[in-house]
Amino acid sequence: MKFFADTADTNDIRELADAGLLDGVTTNPSLIHKAGRNFLEVVAEICEIVPGMPVSAEVVALDHEGMMREAEIVRKIADNVAVKVPLTIDGLKTCKALTDDGTMVNVTLCFSANQALLAAKAGATFISPFVGRHDDTGYDGMNLISDIRLIYDNYDFATQILVASVRHPIHILESAKLGADVMTAPPAVIRQLVKHPLTDKGIDAFMADWAKTGQTIG
Ligand code: E4P
Repeated sequence: MKFFADTADTNDIRELADAGLLDGVTTNPSLIHKAGRNFLEVVAEICEIVPGMPVSAEVVALDHEGMMREAEIVRKIADNVAVKVPLTIDGLKTCKALTDDGTMVNVTLCFSANQALLAAKAGATFISPFVGRHDDTGYDGMNLISDIRLIYDNYDFATQILVASVRHPIHILESAKLGADVMTAPPAVIRQLVKHPLTDKGIDAFMADWAKTGQTIG
């Protein structure tokens, strides 16, 4: 499963990329606001930090013509930009036009398997089902992932399932077990994956015994 960082914080992206943990990055207007930076500049910087890896940059127009106008600007930033569009009829129309033209498209704000089916028919590169926001409504967001996996496999759709709105490590574990293609998570959640109390306890015990040997390495 590919790991994308769901952030516009370039320090976090650099750190995770240096550790070899990243396959791409996703941003959205809220994350751009949080970063407090110019949208086009920060997307360009992210594209340089993770060359060749998909970097999702979201258009904010709601009509097809407006989306196409913004997509023209956004996709010129770098070859690895994936234009992010909302799951609306105008978004799907934009998705079709852009993917027909060889541009990667991430269709976002997906909350049903039928929506995911439409995105695949429109040729989306990625579909972003939001599991955390779905959980918030009292529904198990991971059911959405298994439904989409089943449907995409039934018809051999090439659209990649990009699990979004990931809130905790269990979302990531379940995504991998269900065969999601990609997950995008905040850097803090990705860092949580490394933590285990027995790892910490083991390190402490080894350090204590090593100190008793009185030796050094090198
Ligand atoms: C996905 O691309 C979105 O940016 C993101 O995962 C939304 O997550 P949230 O529900 O935590 O805002």
